[in-house]
Amino acid sequence: MPAADRALAATFDLKRLPDSFYDDPFATYRALREHEPVKRMADGSIFLTRYADIAAVYKNTATFSSDKREEFAPKYGATPLFAHHTTSLVFNDPPLHTRVRRLIAGALTPRHVAAMEARLVERVEALLDAMAARGPGAEVDLIESFASAIPVEVIGNLLGVPAGERGPLRAWSLAILGALEPVPSAAQHDAGNSAVTDFLRYLEGLVAQRRAAPGDPHTDVLTRLIEGEGEGDGGGGERLSAPELLHNCIFLLNAGHETTTNLIGNGLCCLLDAPAEKARLIAEPERIASAIEEFLRIESSNQLGNRITTCATMIGGVTLAPRTQVTLAIGAANRDPAQFADPDRLDIARTPNRHLAFGSGIHQCVGMGLARLEGRIAIGRFLQRFPGYRPAAAPVRARRARFRGHVSLPVVLGPSNETVKETS
Ligand code: HEM
Repeated sequence: MPAADRALAATFDLKRLPDSFYDDPFATYRALREHEPVKRMADGSIFLTRYADIAAVYKNTATFSSDKREEFAPKYGATPLFAHHTTSLVFNDPPLHTRVRRLIAGALTPRHVAAMEARLVERVEALLDAMAARGPGAEVDLIESFASAIPVEVIGNLLGVPAGERGPLRAWSLAILGALEPVPSAAQHDAGNSAVTDFLRYLEGLVAQRRAAPGDPHTDVLTRLIEGEGEGDGGGGERLSAPELLHNCIFLLNAGHETTTNLIGNGLCCLLDAPAEKARLIAEPERIASAIEEFLRIESSNQLGNRITTCATMIGGVTLAPRTQVTLAIGAANRDPAQFADPDRLDIARTPNRHLAFGSGIHQCVGMGLARLEGRIAIGRFLQRFPGYRPAAAPVRARRARFRGHVSLPVVLGPSNETVKETS
C-alpha cells in the first residue's frame, strides 16, 4: 500500500509514537526506508533507516560524534542521569572513550569469555532444573524465571558483585535505561535519577572494599578500572577519576544486562512464532550460533542508536548542518532488503548475516562475545530440555522504542527431555 506507507513515513515522529509502534515498529521502518530514509523530524533531528546509511555513519566517527552533552542537557538538566550518561564511554568520543574501552576490553577477550563458559552452564542448568521440578504442565514466565536471571549473574561475576547483593541491579538498570526513551515521562525521570543515586552509593562501598582487597586485574573488571592502565598498556598510564570509574561501572552493569535478557527472550519468542525454524534448530543443534545471529538481526535488542554531526555533511543524498542529532534505527537497518534477502523471515541458517545489532566501528559492543555465549548456552540448552514449550498466554512487550524485549513471556514448558527419556 504505497499511499498508506507514504503517509506513515510522512507523519512519523520519534517524539510522538503511536502505541502500535511499540509492538511492531517494523511496518513503520519499512515505510521510512522506502519513502523517507533520511527523515527529518519536527525538532530538526534526523532518523535513518537504511543499512548503507547507518553503516556509513558508524564508520565516520570524526563527523558523527557520540558525545551526548548537547542532546542530554535539555533532556535531563543538571541531574544524576545527565552526569551518568555523559560520563559513560558509549556516550563519549576519544580520549575518554579509548581509555575506558581499553580497560574493559582487556577483561573480555575471547580467552576470558571462554573461561566464563563452565560457570554459565552451571547457572543455566540450575535454572532449567528448577523449572523442570515444577512439572510438565507448569506455566512459567520465561523472562522472570530464565532470561533475566542469567545476565545478572554473568555481569555480577565480571565486576565481582557479591551474590547476595545482586537483587537491586536489574531494577536500577531498567530505570536508568527507561529514562533513555525518546520522551521519558516524569515518573521515568524520577526513577532513573533515584536509580543512579542508589547505584552510585552502592558502588562507592564496593569500590572501597576492592581497593582494600584487589581482585585479579586480568579478569576482574572493577580492579582493572580502579588500577587504570599500566605504562605498558598503550595508554598514558592514566587512572580514571572517581566519577568516571563509578559511572562506567554502572554503564557496564546496564549494558550487559537488559540487552542480553532481551536477546534470550526475543529468541525464544521468535521460535514460537516460527515452528518450522524451531523444529529445525532442535533437529540441528549445531546451528545455534547462526540462530543467535538471526535473533539479533530480526529482533535487535537495541533498536536505536544516536550520533551528532560535528560539521556539515551529506548522508543518503541529504545535506546535514553541523550539530544535527541523528538517530540510527538499527532495527530498520537489520531488515533492509537491500542487505538481507527476505528480511522479515526468520532463517536460522542465514548467511551472510552482517547485522548491526552490536553497532559497528570504534563503539562496537565490547561485550558481544559474552552476549553471544550467553545466548547460545541459554537458548541451546533450553531447547534441548524443553523442546515442546508453547505459549500459555500472549507475550507482553515492554513499552519502549530503544530497547526491544518483553515484560513477560508466559509458556507451558511441556515435558522436559529427561521425562521424555524416562517414559519412552
Ligand atoms: C545482546 C546483547 C547486547 C547488545 C544487542 C548490545 C548492543 C550494543 C550496541 C549497539 C553498542 C554500540 C552503541 C553505540 O555505538 O552507540 C554497544 C556498546 C557497548 N556494549 Fe553492548 N550489547 C549487548 C551486550 C553487552 C554485554 C554483555 C556487555 C558487557 C559485558 C556489553 C557492553 C558494552 C559496552 C561496554 C559498550 C560500549 C562500547 C564503546 O562505546 O566503545 N554489551 N552494545
